[in-house]
Amino acid sequence: MYLVSPNFSDLSAPNIEIKLFPDGDSYARINDISKCQGEDVVLFHRLYPKQNSAIFNVAQMLHTLKRVGARVTLVSPYLPYARQDKTFLMGESLSAQVLCKLLADFGTVKLVTVDCHFLKKEGESEYSNLKIHNISAGRLLVEHARMKLGLEHLEVISPDQGANYLVSEFGGKSMSKVRGAYDAGNGEEAYRSVQKVEREFDVEGKNILILDDMISTGGTMLKAVDNVKKGGAKKVICAATHGFFLNDSLPKLKMVADGVFTTNSIPNEAAEVDINPLLKAVMPEKS
Ligand code: R5P
Repeated sequence: MYLVSPNFSDLSAPNIEIKLFPDGDSYARINDISKCQGEDVVLFHRLYPKQNSAIFNVAQMLHTLKRVGARVTLVSPYLPYARQDKTFLMGESLSAQVLCKLLADFGTVKLVTVDCHFLKKEGESEYSNLKIHNISAGRLLVEHARMKLGLEHLEVISPDQGANYLVSEFGGKSMSKVRGAYDAGNGEEAYRSVQKVEREFDVEGKNILILDDMISTGGTMLKAVDNVKKGGAKKVICAATHGFFLNDSLPKLKMVADGVFTTNSIPNEAAEVDINPLLKAVMPEKS
């Protein structure tokens, strides 16, 4: 098993060169390509930020590895486009399928990822011809909340039904989220704002951990915190596997919650939980 990566120095020394030609086209070179010939290869790539160019870079690397007969496991803790597995309007792209098909077609034998939005379960699956091993960071996040806040009694809930798989093993319940139509916005952004987050269970006097697969604009978490605080919750903590914290949502959440943190799948200021042990646990030994 050989490891190649341009941007995963915490797990493997970078050994892929990524540059730009003067016109902006991507240049990618796997320096040790001779060691990959006919081998099982793990390609680490963080696919975020700049997901569109990152995806093209990964396609370049997969194509190069396939040309020398390597069998590639791609490790990307955050999978972009995973929220676009459904359409709301006719003619919309099913981008989650597009990405998975692309990765499979370019020779990915298996993708290892963490809390992939459309899978909603741990373990091995297949989606759009791509074999995926989905790892969950839920247990690490719950353990961290308990240790950090010294809270013995902590109820773990999710802000919508889609994240129920993250909380069900802790006996957690899920709220329901209602999104509106696409906002008019500035004409370039596609966004359906969170209208409301509703709850049919009691939180009065309880310490609550709201757990989700990601905090993007923070719209979901802010509405969920507001809801449980109005319901009389004692302490409220927000945690997610992937943290983008767009639209200044980290300071906004810190103002209203007693704690906010994520894993380091996407580096950010609130990344307090290291997912590398989870990734290493599913990695074959390096030869
Ligand atoms: C979607 O349903 C996901 O599980 C998250 O709840 C969502 O992506 C969070 O997005 P935002 O922070 O923009 O509300």
